[in-house]
Amino acid sequence: MIDPISSKPATPLVAPSILAADFANLESDASASLDAGADLLHVDIMDGHFVPNLSMGPAVCSSLHKAIPDVYLDVHLMVEDPKAYFRPFADAGANLISFHIEVCDSEQHARDLCGKIEELGLHTGIVINPPTEVERVLPVVDAFDLVLVMSVNPGFGGQAFIPEVLEKGRRIAPLLRENQRLEIDGGIGPETAQSAREAGFDLLIAGSAIYGKPRDQWPSLIKTIRGS
Ligand code: DX5
Ligand code: ZN
Repeated sequence: MIDPISSKPATPLVAPSILAADFANLESDASASLDAGADLLHVDIMDGHFVPNLSMGPAVCSSLHKAIPDVYLDVHLMVEDPKAYFRPFADAGANLISFHIEVCDSEQHARDLCGKIEELGLHTGIVINPPTEVERVLPVVDAFDLVLVMSVNPGFGGQAFIPEVLEKGRRIAPLLRENQRLEIDGGIGPETAQSAREAGFDLLIAGSAIYGKPRDQWPSLIKTIRGS
């Protein structure tokens, strides 16, 4: 299993977002993307409140974990009440759980939620949406294993990349330790990945840019997104 946190990767990591996969053939799509060179899988959880869409719950994550036990699962909670889902996703095989700074009413609240995920033995991530000022997340980045900068407004795959968020990466990157990752999510593909890498992102999520294309293109797409 590639653990993105334990050490700084030699090259940026690529995580397909299974939201864009064919859910009727999830194991097949997920395995094919890993065979094509992807490093881990990104799992998008939506509650219909924090974002205006529903996606999947712990049962899907659990099935995926049982089908492909050796893959690292990066679970992105786009939900109003993240703590209700920490244990269900830990039990479902998640390796990392991230939640949004927008659902936290204070710095301490974000740190407390981080502690709850750590108690379950998982890695932690904090996520920031495009309209939210970077200053909101800066005071807590030290506590997390990963900082995820959204480059679309969350809720749907296949949206256009918002280049203004790259500045957040430039602000956050110098603050991070070697065992912390800087992740970007939304609209990442062959045309946008280079600017993200140059801004300091070392974990790149791509949904429709991979699963939306024919399988024979996945190896070269993943290589291009990684930049090597
Ligand atoms: C958006 C999700 C993303 C999404 C990315 O709400 O958090 O992970 O799946 O999809 P693409 O790569 O298609 O923008
Ligand atoms: Zn996501």
